[in-house]
Order: sequence, then C-alpha cells, then structure tokens
Amino acid sequence: MDIMTGRHFLQIPGPTNVPERVLRAMSKPTIDHRGPEFARMALEVLEGLRQICRTTGSLVIYPSSGTGAWEAALVNTLSPGDRLLMVETGHFAKLWQSIAVRHGLHVDFVPTDWRHGVDPAIIEEKLTLDRERKIKAVAIVHNETSTGVTSRVAEIRKAIDKASHPALFMVDTISSLASIDYRHDEWGIDVTVGCSQKGLMVPPGLGLNAISVKALAATKTARMTRSYWDWEPMLSANKAGFFPYTPPTNLLFGLQESLKMLQEEGLENVFTRHKRHAEATRRAVRAWALEILCQNPLEYSSSLTAVLLPEGHNADAFRKVVLDRFNMSLGNGLDKVQGKVFRIGHLGYFNDLMLAGTLSGVEMGLDLAGVPHTKGGVMAALEYLAQK
Ligand SMILES: Cc1ncc(COP(=O)(O)O)c(C=O)c1O
Repeated sequence: MDIMTGRHFLQIPGPTNVPERVLRAMSKPTIDHRGPEFARMALEVLEGLRQICRTTGSLVIYPSSGTGAWEAALVNTLSPGDRLLMVETGHFAKLWQSIAVRHGLHVDFVPTDWRHGVDPAIIEEKLTLDRERKIKAVAIVHNETSTGVTSRVAEIRKAIDKASHPALFMVDTISSLASIDYRHDEWGIDVTVGCSQKGLMVPPGLGLNAISVKALAATKTARMTRSYWDWEPMLSANKAGFFPYTPPTNLLFGLQESLKMLQEEGLENVFTRHKRHAEATRRAVRAWALEILCQNPLEYSSSLTAVLLPEGHNADAFRKVVLDRFNMSLGNGLDKVQGKVFRIGHLGYFNDLMLAGTLSGVEMGLDLAGVPHTKGGVMAALEYLAQK
C-alpha cells in the first residue's frame, strides 16, 4: 500500500470538506431526542435553515440523502398520473425525472445539450400551450452538479408568471444552497430540495424541503402514497422542536455549528467567495487551453467547474493519476459525459490556498497524464486571487 502523508484533497462537488468545528460539534455525546435540550437545538437549526433558504415558511429536515428530499417533494404534492414539466440539464435532472416516472407521474422532459441550463423561454412556451392547465408542477435543478451549469431560477419564475400558469415550482438546490444566491420566498418557489453535504459543510445524511403555503395546500388533494416522507407529522412534531421518529441528533449538532459559521461569514460574503473561486478556476482552465463544459457565461456555476478533456483523452485516467500521485479526488464525468469531463469542486469550506493546491494538482496531473495543455493555469488563477 502506498503511504500518503498530509491531508487528502476532497475536491469533488460534494460531499465537501467538513470543518473541524463541525466535526467537533458532531462528536458531542448524543442527547435525549425527547428532552428540552434537543428541542432547543432543533428549533434553532430549523430557523437557521430557513434563513439560508430565505424563507419564513415551513421547512422540514429528513434523515436522508438528497434523493429522499426529491421524493418527498413529489409525493407530498402530486397524484399518480399528474403531469410534470422537467428539463434534462444533466445527470441529476435525469435521476429526479426517473423518480417521478417510477411514481406514476407523466413527465414532459425537455432535452438540452448538457451544456446549458433551463431556458426560461421554453418553460413559458410549454406552459402557455398547456391551455387546460394539466401540468401540475415545474421541477428543475438549480445547479446541475454533473455539468457545472446554474439555471436562472428567478427568470424561470418570471416565465411561469408570464404564462399565468398555476403549476407548482420545485427547485433542487442540492449543490447551490449556501453557495449560490437562492431565495425561496422572493422567487416564489413552492418546494425547495436541499441536503447537508455540499454548501452546508455537514457530512451526508440530511435532506430538506422548504415548503410554500401553496405546496402545503396541495398536500390536501395529493393522492400519492406517503408515510415516511409525509410533511404533516413532521411539521406537527417540529412545532415543539421534536421529530415523529428518532432524529439524526449528531448530524443536527453538526448543522447547528455550520449554520453558525455561515451566519458569522454572512450569506452574501459566502456567495462572493464562491464566485471568486469559480472565476479563478475558469481563468486556470482557459490558460490551460481546455474547455469549460458550461457554454453560457450567465450560467457558470460558482460551486464547481466541469472541464472537457481533448478528444482521445480519458478524464477518468487523468483523475486516477491525480489521486495516485497527489492524493486528491476530483469529480468524475457522469452518465453521458463519463470519461469526457472531470469536475473541480470549489464549494463549501474552502479558501484561496486550498484552491491553489487543487489547481496545482490538476496542472501537474495534466502533465503526468499526457493531456495536451498550455502551462500557466495555476499562475493565472493566483494572479486573479492576489488582486481581487
Ligand atoms: C443537484 C443534485 N441533486 C440531487 C443529488 C442527489 O443527492 P444524494 O446523492 O444526496 O441523494 C445530487 C448529488 O450529488 C445533486 O448534486
């Protein structure tokens, strides 16, 4: 076995690096989940998450991965046979669509080239054409983690409004929450889907839904079978700070600490930090003369950058070199872009020198793997970081 000294660089776009403060908070002894100390902590965490989602409304946390929170959004609001409008922005949009189909929903799944986000004009057109108002929900991924493309949620909201369509609006913020500007209330989102292991800097294991009044009303007529994911028992137990079943106490301790960290930094500063690291990364990629998968600068992701390798070069072989030589994990290409792209995660608990180390590992890896490129990517990023 090769001995690796120093720390591992976890530069996949989630799970992200967990801060020491969060790890320490999680190592506290588990407490009685029916006692007053738990209730105080749960109420604080629920309120803190509301602030991150920018909502004053209902919010639930599940002991689940993000996939559970996807399923919860659908089963609480819809009925078998309902129609849904979704856009195939990448691998994660496809996975959410497949959950909907397996639940008996009919999805109009708009294709893209996986290099662009959701086109607001298509949403407006599809909804305008739906004169009988059969589409019950529009469900999109804010930041498509497989491609590094961020859809313009506020503009999509406007498109729905222009069509005067009553569909619910559901948004997956799994790799954007606490990294990229997002406003549940202001943008009229009905269900926000999130989870712990990305911008929230907590290990995997918590899923969340922020829920509008309209989405809550939809639960009254929704006929999809639901039990574990049912919002109602959760919201009712949450009122006093409790859960309807045994909660993931120690993950909640971690979340309580990470929310404090985000509050200390200030959400606007968190977004600016992510934007700056993303821009530095793109400058490095351009200097290497490699291609960024995202083609629309308005849709560049602040949480990750997906980089295309030249034809004939395998991104997984390159990633293996980087892992073996430099003890750094980069994100792989998923599904249709497997082997074609690698992804640099620059979200969560991250700083300038971590980015400098990450980009250095990439540049040396390109050399070692024999990927044609121009030198100077790291330098381009450093120059930007030093002046900005
Ligand atoms: C945008 C997006 N949605 C959904 C998921 C699925 O979340 P999980 O793997 O936690 O179930 C992921 C996972 O990376 C994601 O990036």
